[in-house]
This record gives sequence, C-alpha cells and structure tokens, in this order.
Amino acid sequence: MLNRLEAQSPDALLALIKLFNADPRPDKIDLGVGVYRTADGATPVFAAIKDAEARLVAEQASKSYLGPEGDMGFVNGLVPHIFGDATPAAGRMDGMQTPGGTGAVRLALALAKAAGATRVLMGTPSWPNHAQILADLDLELVGFSHAASDGSADMAALRSALANAGEGDAVLLHGCCHNPTGVDYTHAEWDEIAQLLSDSPVLPVIDLAYQGLGDGMEEDAYGVRAVTKACSEVLVAYSCDKNFGLYRDRVGAFYAITGDAEATKRAMSNAASLARANWSMPPDHGGAAVRLILEDAAMSAKWQDELASMRARIAEVRAALAAASNAGGVNLEPLGRQKGMFGMLPVSKEQVQRLRDEHGVYMAGSGRINVAGLTLGNIEQFIAALAAVTAEG
Ligand code: LMR
Repeated sequence: MLNRLEAQSPDALLALIKLFNADPRPDKIDLGVGVYRTADGATPVFAAIKDAEARLVAEQASKSYLGPEGDMGFVNGLVPHIFGDATPAAGRMDGMQTPGGTGAVRLALALAKAAGATRVLMGTPSWPNHAQILADLDLELVGFSHAASDGSADMAALRSALANAGEGDAVLLHGCCHNPTGVDYTHAEWDEIAQLLSDSPVLPVIDLAYQGLGDGMEEDAYGVRAVTKACSEVLVAYSCDKNFGLYRDRVGAFYAITGDAEATKRAMSNAASLARANWSMPPDHGGAAVRLILEDAAMSAKWQDELASMRARIAEVRAALAAASNAGGVNLEPLGRQKGMFGMLPVSKEQVQRLRDEHGVYMAGSGRINVAGLTLGNIEQFIAALAAVTAEG
C-alpha cells in the first residue's frame, strides 16, 4: 500500500535551515526561516526562560497528564497580554494550550469547519503553511491581495472580499507583523475591519504569532482587541515561539470567543475532541515556563526587557536598510515602514537562487527576508550582493 505514495517535496522554508547549515562559507547570511538573531547572529534562550526552567526543574512535582487543554495557568496568564481591556465578559471566552502557533491555527480552522465553514478568505501572500493547513482540512481558500502597490495594506481588496462573503465563510487575518510582507493594518484600518466584521456573518480567525516584535506588546494587540470588542464570535491562534524564543518547544494557545457561556462550552468541547484526535495533549515544558514568567513580576520584567531589545534591534536593521534607500534595482525604503521580522523583496526566483549560490545569502524563494538575520556588520555585504544580482537583471 505504501508503495503507492507519491513523493512530496520538503517544506521549502524548513529545507533552507539544512542548506544554510551545510554551506561552509564563513560569511554566509541566513535570512530564511523566521527566527530572531542577535547582533552576533545567535538565537539564545531568553534569560527569563532560563530562570523559569531552573525553577521548573526544582519545583515540578509531577509530569502526569493534564488533559487536552494543557496548562490552563499558562492559557489564562496570557489573556491580559493578548486581550487587555477587550477581554470578553466571563463565560464568553475560553482557551486551551496547543503545540505551537501552528497547532492553534490548525485547531481554529478545524473548529471553524466543524461549525460549518467551507471557505476561508485570506490576504495573499501569506505564511505558506496557512494554505497547506486549509488544503489539508479541505477548506476552500478565497484569496485577496494583502498589500497594495504603494506599500500599505490593500484595504480595497479586503473590503471587496468581505462584501462578497457571507454565511459559511471565515477570514484569516494576521494580528501583527504580517508574514511575509511586514505590511500591517494601521489602527484606523483595524477599526474599520472590526466594524465591517461586526456587520457581517464572516467568522474572524486571527493568527497572532509575533506579538511584541512590532511596536510593543500592547500596540501589537490593537487589531485582535478591536475585533474582539466589535464581534460576538472570534477565534484567536497565538504563538509564544518568537516572543518567548521557544521555537522548538512548540508553545501556542487557542481562544474561542462566542456569544454566551453555553456556546463557549460547546465550542471548547469540540476543540477538546479535535485536539484529542490530533495530538491528544500539548507538550508541557515551554508552556509551564511561560506560566512561571507570567506569574512572577521580576521574571516578567526581565522577559519584557529582552523582548524590547529584540524589537529595538529589528527596528535598527530596518532603519539601516531604509537609509541605504536602494540596492541595484531594489527600493529598500518600504522596509523601514514595515513591522516585525519579515519583508518581501521584488526579486525573481532566479535572483534568489543566485544570491544563495554566488553570495551565500539565503532567503525564501518568494523573496521574503527575515530582517533579524541582518546585523550592522553584514548589512553592507547583503546590499552589495542584492545590487549585484538585481543590477544584472
Ligand atoms: C516562518 O515563517 O519562518 C516561521 O513562522 C517558521 C515556520 O514555521 O514557518
């Protein structure tokens, strides 16, 4: 039976990790997968996480099962950070822990499907795994353009997609730090989106995977809070992979907001059974470390400081790229206005390949770069490589 299977190509983004590691050139530059790097090119474990892990090792009394919802101290501890003054009234919201942000997106979309969704509106380009998850769930992807040619969000495309949608439709929105374009909705645009969604039967699903890496923890929550205030039903997929640096520990959370306590109970009972059939229970360690940080004022302050310095470094790289203004045929100025780790360069697949082969610069085939892979030490080398490849067409 297994002999019938057709080979699948490896995930292009994750394949880049191995290609980069195998490249012996000492001056290679990794702008591929979305992992934060320091000015020395390292991805260290947060000091606050080290403290929390030490406490966990010393104090954890059991590793017995918790249940499909995972560590509810972790899930509830995140609520004020995500929802703030938009936290719904008791009973209207509940959540559960998931294996990473991907598990949360998967659970949100599977629950939307169980509730009758057949189509999902999504701005494109998007994180490639969004489309893979939709295809795997047999949900129809209805694409609309995410970014306009002037570098702002394409609100006209979103308005028109929502105007043409109805019962049985969901819309998948990036809460902040859009992956891959870095083009976020402004606060005024989020207010309009919230209003449009409150007047529509379309179910909002918000993927918030980079909170704190744009303008700040509070600022980056503006969109999710505006939509939560305006709409009676919202699903939120959350990731701690980046803002707590827990990538391989797979730490995520899922929240369902519904019209009333009974509907929330029913939604969560469905989410629990989907989780049980998919992964049974989420991995505990990373979520428990986050919970300890959120419960402790000193560790929380340390974590917030570390996150602030990551944000500042990303902003510094973006400013340096924008100040360089262009590289060959590529205008770098929009990168200075974008948010989070990613931006798209208008380069062809051939140019991406040449950057890798001839200059040791690794980026996604789409032209997406992880700006956190750049440092003030390698930025000139990157700009020169980009200029060489784009000037020759
Ligand atoms: C990325 O887009 O690079 C990250 O979200 C990592 C991943 O899982 O793709």
